[in-house]
Amino acid sequence: MATFQTLPGFREFYPEDFSRRNHLFRLWRQTANTFGFAEYDAPVLEPLDLYKAKSGDEIEGQLFSFTDKGGREVALRPEMTPTVCRLVGAKASTLKRPIRWFSIAEFYRYERMQKGRGRCFFQFNADIFGEPGPEAETELIALLVQCLAAFGLTEQDFFVRLSDRNLWFYYLEALGLDEARIRGVLGAVDRFEKYGDDAFKGYTEQFGPLDGGVKAKVLAFLQIKSLAALEQTLGVIGGEKLAARLADWKKLLGNLAAMGLARFIEVDLGVVRGLAYYTGFVFEAFDRKGELRALAGGGRYDDLVQKLGGPALPAVGFAIGDMTFALLLEQRGLMPTLVQAPDVYCVIGGEAERLEAFGDIHALRAAGYRVDYPLKEVAFGKQFKAAAESGAKLALIYGGDELAKGVVKLRDLGARTEQEVPRAQVVPTVRDFFSV
Ligand code: HAM
Repeated sequence: MATFQTLPGFREFYPEDFSRRNHLFRLWRQTANTFGFAEYDAPVLEPLDLYKAKSGDEIEGQLFSFTDKGGREVALRPEMTPTVCRLVGAKASTLKRPIRWFSIAEFYRYERMQKGRGRCFFQFNADIFGEPGPEAETELIALLVQCLAAFGLTEQDFFVRLSDRNLWFYYLEALGLDEARIRGVLGAVDRFEKYGDDAFKGYTEQFGPLDGGVKAKVLAFLQIKSLAALEQTLGVIGGEKLAARLADWKKLLGNLAAMGLARFIEVDLGVVRGLAYYTGFVFEAFDRKGELRALAGGGRYDDLVQKLGGPALPAVGFAIGDMTFALLLEQRGLMPTLVQAPDVYCVIGGEAERLEAFGDIHALRAAGYRVDYPLKEVAFGKQFKAAAESGAKLALIYGGDELAKGVVKLRDLGARTEQEVPRAQVVPTVRDFFSV
């Protein structure tokens, strides 16, 4: 008989995996709440056009897309950004600014599978709409850092590389390139770390070889690792636009330093981000050892809401993926073994005692306690063993002798002490036990 397996790159979550996933989601959600972000979600299946030319060639080539029964071209969402722009754009006039939203959702990309990369994965997305200044980047980078630090990761484990597509544009413009060529060069810069000189192949095919002098300057610019070096290189260009931009940089880095986060941030012009819609600051989080692919990525995308039919609305955001992040937590021993222990384990004599126990079992569950008991009659000895192994703090013993006396025996499995409790007092006694 044929066995049916999951499609390549898709994942199944057995309960143990699911509890890990919940652990990530719980802390991300909690952290987003402390920053005042509100949660939203949207459809998994979207019109194909939402991604065409908006997300960029790379994502477009990775879409799971098909024609539905009504003849519509549709795609499984590869990312949240175009969707959230539509949501915000449609209600922009009624939403209180700044709009701070987050989501935890599943995405689909037909990618070549590698460590930390699958064809379906979860992302935590957080975005701020309506704030043009670096105050928005401050909040988002702080949130990104805290979403990783909340799990016990420190600056020794990860860092955020900060760059700026605006400055790249100013610089390449000053070197005499037009917009199409600038986009071509930025595509090469995005791939440079991975492919070296081969990253320029696409540019060469489209525009012919990049002038040697310009290329040397591009390669030097992408090595820039400090604000001072950036100011020095750009000093030759001058102008108001550039001065204002450098002031934004100082503000952002100053804000993050004041929050105590400077140790997580590195200026790195080698980051430009592959997605087509970014317009200003861009950033990516990586593990310090450089063993894993990006943990998170984001940036400013001031034109996208309008391009998708909404009003002009500045926006910044980022997404953390669950796969690389889980790998990092495991490598650092920070993924807890999540045992789901019951609070109470009931040890039950026989069928008659079971019927007596059921009333308490249900009442305790209704009161919010997790209660386990053997579904079938089992020897007492085995039940005590199961109670001890379950991790429960308390055992309730419904033996024939106890019930004849109108009591239930309550055993503290940690302290190894016992007491007899009148039947009617079981629920309040358990409540007292757990309230101390
Ligand atoms: P992205 O860089 O394409 O950005 O993805 C963000 C993160 O999602 C990556 O750093 C990675 O951790 C994870 N990720 C992406 N593709 C895969 C995959 N195939 N398998 C596993 N993990 C993956 C965006 O998606 C932007 N929309 C982020 C954003 C939000 N920008 C503004 N707001």
